[in-house]
Amino acid sequence: MATLSIVGPLAWLWQDSLVPAAYSVMDMGYPDYGGGAVPDTSSGGGHGGHMQGEMPGHDMPMPRLVTDMIADPARPADVKVDLVTRQQMLTVAGRSIPGFTVNRTSPGPEIRARQGQLIEVHLHNESVADGVTLHWHGVDVPNAMDGVAGVTQDAVPIGGEFTYRFVAKQAGTYWYHSHQVSNPQVAGGLLGSLVVTPRSGIAQLVDVSAIAHTYGGVRTVNGKAEDLRVPAHPGQRVRVRVTNTDNGPMKVWASDPYRLLATDGTEVHRPTEISGRSVTLTAGGRADLEVQAPSNGDAVRVQLSKATAVIIGAPGAEAPVPPQPTEELDLLSYGTPTSLGFDPTHPARRFDYRIGRRPGFVKGLPGMWWSINGRLFPHVPMFVVREGDVVVMHIENHSGEVHPMHLHGHHEVVLARNGVAATGSPWWVDSLNVLPGETYDIAFVANNPGIWMDHCHNLKHAAQGMIAHLMYEGFDTPYRIAGPADNQPE
Ligand code: C2O
Ligand code: CU
Repeated sequence: MATLSIVGPLAWLWQDSLVPAAYSVMDMGYPDYGGGAVPDTSSGGGHGGHMQGEMPGHDMPMPRLVTDMIADPARPADVKVDLVTRQQMLTVAGRSIPGFTVNRTSPGPEIRARQGQLIEVHLHNESVADGVTLHWHGVDVPNAMDGVAGVTQDAVPIGGEFTYRFVAKQAGTYWYHSHQVSNPQVAGGLLGSLVVTPRSGIAQLVDVSAIAHTYGGVRTVNGKAEDLRVPAHPGQRVRVRVTNTDNGPMKVWASDPYRLLATDGTEVHRPTEISGRSVTLTAGGRADLEVQAPSNGDAVRVQLSKATAVIIGAPGAEAPVPPQPTEELDLLSYGTPTSLGFDPTHPARRFDYRIGRRPGFVKGLPGMWWSINGRLFPHVPMFVVREGDVVVMHIENHSGEVHPMHLHGHHEVVLARNGVAATGSPWWVDSLNVLPGETYDIAFVANNPGIWMDHCHNLKHAAQGMIAHLMYEGFDTPYRIAGPADNQPE
């Protein structure tokens, strides 16, 4: 009896942690309406009321499908790019490392477009055995273009193709990466940068992207384990777009005073000069820095952690490595306030995203797993919203480790950290560094209908089940996680 009383519940927990051979994201976890309107589930449009085996009557509204959310098919593309993915050995710092390329390089080619242009990317998977997708990290694309295997499309097998089309509505620094088996594929280099320049053009004469990525333990900038040299005339202003594609946060600082122009693709309002402070860039996040090439013909260094740097100035000019500042820039009070464009004081929904860690089973494996609101994957919340809702989310981290929280398809503004209200420029993020013990209150407008991941961008943690979703009432997906296409979004 004693044995049974232990084994019985354990067996139940084990069984309860398993996922079926094919399942809909709609069947994961439980709906959380955040205190807002609860849809009439008898209409077949609510959570769990998905298509499989369901025959809605003619008076019931049909669910809207993620696949319906596309850019205007009649509009011709302004920027057309062909991307070919391969699984191959990479040479980094003279070492041969197994990885992935896009058009035979890693990072893949940078895509540049002007705000308002329609980007069309034709993906062809030449040799990535597990299949691939492309996710446009930070771009609020139509849902069908979000590149999440098993939610917005099937993984593209070897020999397969997929075309992504979306309008680059917001200027800024973004990146793309695979969202199929994403932890090994992103770590292995299946990624690249995407820059959308403003309609009005860029104030800085020199504009450069710096992707910080670690390949097999080797830190690189734009795929090379050496400093990136950027020629600039004395006095020229330079925009450096830093993207952190690793799983952990990094610090960025410079040898001369600098300004932080943008975070995660949104301009800071009236950014002031920064010296003696570093900027923390969370996993998946971007920081656009402005530095000025020294007028005396020397160079200025932008450090991407201690390991690598961008050196800007006359060719051959040097700049000593600046010491790492002990203080960090606090984005809660940087810049000047301006309108958010919406009022977060009376939100239609308030959600909690409490991150913890506890013993249990995930996918049949015992361990200490990440929990969301006390529950383990796949019993995670499905945050349900209605189009137009103002949403506030309260994030708490009780897990003892840092988590870079990333919501797809939306930009969120930070209202408060540890209960202290923001006083600076609106601090817009799509990737937020949440330290152990911290709380954040963030807000966004539900203005991009579909089903969106809301997960940790330490992709190891995501693969361990640190995933939730945001869905709009009445949505459904025809795709299945696992299943015949072997979709594994994490
Ligand atoms: Cu950078 Cu869910 O992704
Ligand atoms: Cu995490």
